[in-house]
Amino acid sequence: MFRLFLSAGLILFLGSGAAFGSDSQKLFGAKCAKCHGKDGKGVEKLAKTLKVEIGKLNLTGKETVKATDAALVKVTLGGRKKMPKFQGKLSPEEVQGLVQYLRTLSGSSK
Ligand code: HEC
Repeated sequence: MFRLFLSAGLILFLGSGAAFGSDSQKLFGAKCAKCHGKDGKGVEKLAKTLKVEIGKLNLTGKETVKATDAALVKVTLGGRKKMPKFQGKLSPEEVQGLVQYLRTLSGSSK
């Protein structure tokens, strides 16, 4: 019969696909900067609120630079102490992108 052209409309809906990678900066601004600051050095006010040392919020310091990508991905997904977990909120790929972005903030990208 002439059903063929009905399927063409459906195909248009399938092309949306998410934009990845270069969006890490935006994602960081939206999800992480509140505590870690846009520059990754930590937000003083949040350190007070959370009762943590500002150094804990600094993602550009020695400790973070020394940590492996895998370790940082794990902390971001699983959380640690006052660091909220992002498992289920961000995909592992998004978190990997964020860790790469952190490396650029500390000038330690490999
Ligand atoms: C509610 C505030 C808050 C938000 C939002 C937040 N963090 Fe954190 N983050 C923390 C705190 C507090 C720590 C320190 C945890 C500790 O004491 O071990 C931390 C630690 C980390 C560490 C470990 C650093 C290291 O050297 O081991 C990474 C990596 C990290 N955060 C990444 C992120 C990313 C990526 C996001 C956004 C997706 C994010 N954080 C959002 C509060 C936050």
